[in-house]
This record gives sequence, C-alpha cells and structure tokens, in this order.
Amino acid sequence: MQTMQWIVFSLLLTLGPLSAVAQTNRSLDEGMEIMTQKQLGNCAACHELPGIQGTASNLGPSLKGVGAKLTRETLTQWVKDGRVLRPNTLMPPFGNSGGLQKLTDKRALLTDLQIQKVVETLMTWRSDPLQPLSGVASERQPIQTQSGNAFLSPAMLAMQNDPMANPISLWLDKGQALWASADPKASCAQCHGPLEKNKTLANQFPKWSSNLKKLINLEDQIVQCSEKTSKPYKNLEDPDVLALSALLHQQSNNQTILLRPHATHKEEWQKELNAGAELFMQRMGRMNLACTHCHDQNIGKKMQADIISPGHPTGFPIFKMNWQSMGSIDRRIRACYSGVQADIPPAGSRELRQLELFLKMRAEGLSIEGPSLRR
Ligand code: HEC
Ligand code: HEC
Ligand code: HEC
Repeated sequence: MQTMQWIVFSLLLTLGPLSAVAQTNRSLDEGMEIMTQKQLGNCAACHELPGIQGTASNLGPSLKGVGAKLTRETLTQWVKDGRVLRPNTLMPPFGNSGGLQKLTDKRALLTDLQIQKVVETLMTWRSDPLQPLSGVASERQPIQTQSGNAFLSPAMLAMQNDPMANPISLWLDKGQALWASADPKASCAQCHGPLEKNKTLANQFPKWSSNLKKLINLEDQIVQCSEKTSKPYKNLEDPDVLALSALLHQQSNNQTILLRPHATHKEEWQKELNAGAELFMQRMGRMNLACTHCHDQNIGKKMQADIISPGHPTGFPIFKMNWQSMGSIDRRIRACYSGVQADIPPAGSRELRQLELFLKMRAEGLSIEGPSLRR
C-alpha cells in the first residue's frame, strides 16, 4: 500500500501539479526539505522533528505536535521573527535580517513562500502530546566547569585512553621528531633544550607580544619561532605546527591555566580581554545567537549528535573525527561561527585571539588536558 502511494505520488510529481491534493503533498514535501537543509531552515540542528532518524536536538523545544499547540499565525510569526513574540528568544528569525550582525549578505534567510511551506508542514504535526516550552534561561547561569572531555561518549573516551587506538599518538610522535630534529638547524631544541624542560609553555597563551603589539597564541608563537629555523612554517593549521602544539600542550598537562598581563602592557591586555567578553555575548549570523546562548545557557542540550559543553579551551588542539585531522582552537571557534552562519573571521585574526583570551580567563583554575579527541 505504502509503495503504491509512493508510485502514485511520484507520478503526480513528474506530471506536475494535477490536483489540489498533489499540490498540498508537494508543498509538505518542500516544507520538510526546507526544514532539514542546513543552508535553508537548519531546524534539525536545534529541534526534534517527527520522522527524522538519529539523535534529536533539544536546544529548542520538540516540534512534534506543534501544529496542535500553536495557530497558523503564531507558527508563522515564530518562523518569520520570534523576537516579536519573545524579544530575547534564541529562535533565529528566518524571515527578517533586521538587527542581525556579521551577516555575509542582508537577504532574509527564507522567502515568504518558503516560510509558508514550512508552516504548512508544521500544521500537520498534530499527533503528539503537548510539549512544554524549553526553559530558555533569561538570566546568566553560573558557568559550569566541566571540560569537553566530560562530554565524550564512552566509546570516544575509550579510544582517547588507548594510545594504540588514539590517532593523536602519531601526531605526538611527529611533534617529538620535529622538536629534536635530526637536522639541528631545523630543531626547536637548539634554543629551547630538551622537551622535559619545557613543561609550562602551553598554559600561558594567548599572551601580549610587545614586538607585534597584539595577542598571540601558542600556534602563532610556533610559527614565529619556526622562522628562526631552517624549516619555517607559514600556516597556523600546518600539520607540523599542530603536531608541535599537541606536544607542548601534552607537556603542560595538569598545569593550571593562568594568564596575567605583564606590568608593561596591562592596559592593552585588558582591552583585548574586554573585547573578547563582548564578542562572547554578541549575537551573530543568521542564527542570531551568541556564544553565551549555547555555552552558558544551554549546556547539556543536544544539537544533533553534539552535546553542548561549556566550551572550555582546555582540550586543544583537538583531533576531530569529522575533520579527520588535528585542529587548533582557532579552527574550532571558526567552526562555531560557521554553525551560526555568520561571516567567519580569517584564521589568526584579532577577534579569534580576543575570544581565546576570554575563554581562558573564563576557565581560570581549570587545567590543560589536551590534546584530545572530539567527535
Ligand atoms: C539555533 C537553534 C534553532 C534553529 C536553527 C531553529 N529553532 Fe525554532 N526555536 C529555537 C528555540 C531555542 C526555541 C524556543 C524559543 C523561546 O521559547 O524563546 C524555538 C522555538 C520554535 C517554535 C515555537 C515552539 C513552541 O513550542 O512554542 C517553533 C514553531 C519553531 N521554533 C520552529 C522552527 C523551525 C520551523 C525552524 C527551521 C526553519 C527552527 N525553529 C529553527 C531554536 C531554533
Ligand atoms: C548554536 C550553538 C553554539 C554557538 C552559538 C556557539 N557554539 Fe561553540 N560549540 C557548539 C557545539 C554544538 C559544539 C560541539 C560540542 C561542544 O564541545 O560543546 C561547540 C564547541 C565549541 C568549543 C570546543 C569545546 C571542546 O571542548 O571541544 C569551543 C571552544 C567553542 N565551541 C567556542 C565557541 C565560541 C567562542 C562561540 C562564539 C563565537 C561559540 N562557540 C558559539 C555550539 C555553539
Ligand atoms: C633561534 C632560537 C629559537 C628556535 C630555533 C626556536 N625558538 Fe622558540 N623562542 C625563542 C625565543 C628567543 C623565545 C622568547 C620569545 C620570543 O622572542 O619570541 C622563544 C619562545 C618560545 C615559546 C614561548 C615561551 C614562553 O615562555 O613564552 C614557545 C612555546 C616556543 N618558543 C616554541 C618553539 C618551537 C615549537 C620551536 C621549534 C619550531 C622553537 N620555539 C624554536 C627562540 C627560539
């Protein structure tokens, strides 16, 4: 029976909208398509949708049964611009780009017609019992102190703890080979001595560079130092730079994150920190969300297969399974910009260092525990 319906339905689709029924079905289908595509609705990133396989997101309330709970007008308003209903809402406005920051272009994310199709589909979701609204915290909650490792699945944790299975082992070996390179002019050891004497390098970044008059992080420092060797690096995400960063972070494991400005540049440092704090609280992109909305206010909530952690900077650099590579904190923060569909700052930019400084100050008292594995 099911198959029969499908055949009829596909036939209608190929023949074009012959009847009102076909038109409606097609509209529902398109509504679902818009809701599940990342570049369009991206609804599944935050909501549980009926009929979608895999881990359900719960940053927003489940949309099961929403058609029985809300009227067409209210649903349309939520999708168009929920700020009208609730000024501080975390639901992105899909039909109004007014007031959004760091957008790549100024068009609304969905056209009126697309929104209409989405609402058409939402209206059919009536079967489930009423769902309570998710409690969106209106006030800042105390910052939680679990690091990203506390959010790893048991399988990932087992892999992380087994050097034979953990892909990071290879990167650490590579880092060691680079540090004490057989070519003495290429090595780091020529100036810094044996590795064992360099155990407190990674827990002090980012720091203010008086030469460059800006904040630099560990990867910036490695690139700079490499210029004094016969093997200079240009790129912050160069595998060699990441291997050395992984190695130095591992050496600094269990060292408390402790950042203090030097007396000679206290003011500059404080300015960068303040800018980082502001960035953390600033809504951005098409999703119109700030870091704080996820990493302070919705810790533990699911976004598809991810569980939102406090976003502490303790585990870097990370080997991320879906990058199939090691990546720096710089790259991870850029991925969050991409997640909220904001204009992504270039690698190494000031904004990213300001955020890193803020994250490290926010995590003060926690220890370095990188490099680590992530999904
Ligand atoms: C970035 C996360 C995010 C995305 C993406 C998102 N939403 Fe939401 N949505 C929320 C949150 C959080 C709420 C709760 C808002 C509140 O209570 O202030 C919400 C609320 C809603 C509501 C009101 C539900 C109720 O029970 O009152 C509807 C309807 C809704 N969203 C539909 C959608 C649709 C359709 C899409 C895709 C086009 C979508 N959302 C995309 C986060 C999101
Ligand atoms: C829409 C929700 C959302 C927003 C907004 C967001 N992130 Fe994230 N972020 C995530 C998710 C999901 C992950 C992956 C799971 C995790 O580690 O929390 C993540 C991971 C991270 C991590 C890695 C933590 C770890 O231990 O691996 C850092 C650091 C981070 N985010 C920083 C930021 C910063 C800085 C901002 C603001 C520029 C930001 N995020 C904005 C959802 C968000
Ligand atoms: C020619 C000597 C020289 C070589 C080779 C060298 N460095 Fe450095 N490094 C320095 C000096 C000098 C400093 C002090 C800060 C500065 O001038 O940048 C430093 C600082 C550092 C710091 C910060 C230390 C702190 O306490 O703030 C790190 C980390 C570092 N280097 C890593 C490396 C790595 C990794 C390599 C190999 C790619 C390397 N260095 C190669 C001379 C060197």
